Amino acid sequence: MAHSDPQILAGRRILLGVSGGIAAYKTVELARLRVSVGCDVRVVMTPGATQFIGPLTLQAVTGWPVSTDTFDPQQEAAMGHIALARWADLIVIAPASANCIAGLHAGQADTLLHTVCLASTTPLALAPAMNSQMWQHPATQANIQALQQRGVQCWGPAEGVQACGDTGPGRLQEPTELYQHIVAYFTRGSLAGCHLLLTAGPTREPLDAVRYIGNRSSGKMGYAIAKAAAAQGARVTLVSGPTALACPPDITRHQVQTAQQMYDQVMAQVSEADIFVACAAVADYRPETCAEHKIKKGTVPRSLTMVPNPDILAAVAGLPEPPYCLGFAAETDQVLTQAETKRKAKKISLLAANRVSATAGFDADENALTLLSDQGRIHLPQQSKQRLAQQLIHHLAEQYHAYLTIQNS
Ligand code: C5P
Repeated sequence: MAHSDPQILAGRRILLGVSGGIAAYKTVELARLRVSVGCDVRVVMTPGATQFIGPLTLQAVTGWPVSTDTFDPQQEAAMGHIALARWADLIVIAPASANCIAGLHAGQADTLLHTVCLASTTPLALAPAMNSQMWQHPATQANIQALQQRGVQCWGPAEGVQACGDTGPGRLQEPTELYQHIVAYFTRGSLAGCHLLLTAGPTREPLDAVRYIGNRSSGKMGYAIAKAAAAQGARVTLVSGPTALACPPDITRHQVQTAQQMYDQVMAQVSEADIFVACAAVADYRPETCAEHKIKKGTVPRSLTMVPNPDILAAVAGLPEPPYCLGFAAETDQVLTQAETKRKAKKISLLAANRVSATAGFDADENALTLLSDQGRIHLPQQSKQRLAQQLIHHLAEQYHAYLTIQNS
């Protein structure tokens, strides 16, 4: 198994919380991975977790007694709940069940694990695992979003076939993936501590009950940027138009259809954002009216009256205290001239310009970008959108930190 940067983890004190779920068996492998690179791992299990795996298993793997009971005098004597809460550099709960997440949100202290979390200021990461319906339930989503607002990290869940036979989001991420999150946490990415708000994908502007005006944007570039930013430690909120893409792990996604809905959602989130990335292919105009029912053949109007949509990027950049803004300009001709004009008009710090062609840009797996800012131009050659997104995030982080330095001086 590949361990990247294992020295980063040597000597780290990680409190591993285990709540009740069938995925608890994978936690043994996670504990073993961490111990193998020199981490000091202590385990707290909820009573529910002990129904799935025995504390002795985790004790054998970590070399330390496993705590399960708030009121056990022996366990309190070994390392009490307050001492545990202060001891850890990072608390990771894997699996985090729906019940465990609800209790954390409510600030309950009915299990030792919840008591420790409540008594701790240590950063907390959750690796949710549950039935996909439970995960998608508005109650669980509200709980997890509220916890993320408080700075709790959420790793996963992964999608796939579940123990109950359902398919969908709710699987515990694999131990190797969780391990990589821990490495990334301690490595701290170039955007650690930043909240990045991002739009991606197309918008659909309805004509009637079944028809819309849309565009060929696949959302691939935006989703790749969201992933690359999360990998660099950013908390990412993605406002996405309709795409076929799954929500990447650790990212809060709000799905919308129209430009107006995208605008409303961005405006609801933007006050918390440090960086705004407008990657969506937003329709500039929408039909003035939308027929309630399907327009019948023969009654289709020969011309459409269109009205302008709000320009989301311009609106965000025009706020009294705007976040640092990165916009996109997809052009077919005079790419850089058009892009520079757009950057000035919308008053944004950084603009990524790309030529739309048969092999790059819209609905393609590859793209090439030129970054325009007051500091000059940087060309990122044609390559996969994943690699391109990583390079883009590298430059974005550099320019964002330079901008902060100027703002604070
Ligand atoms: O002016 P143009 O549509 O070419 O500008 C493109 C940039 O502006 C992109 O970053 C796009 O996401 C953003 N945009 C927006 N809202 C609109 C139109 C474009 O945020 N209504």
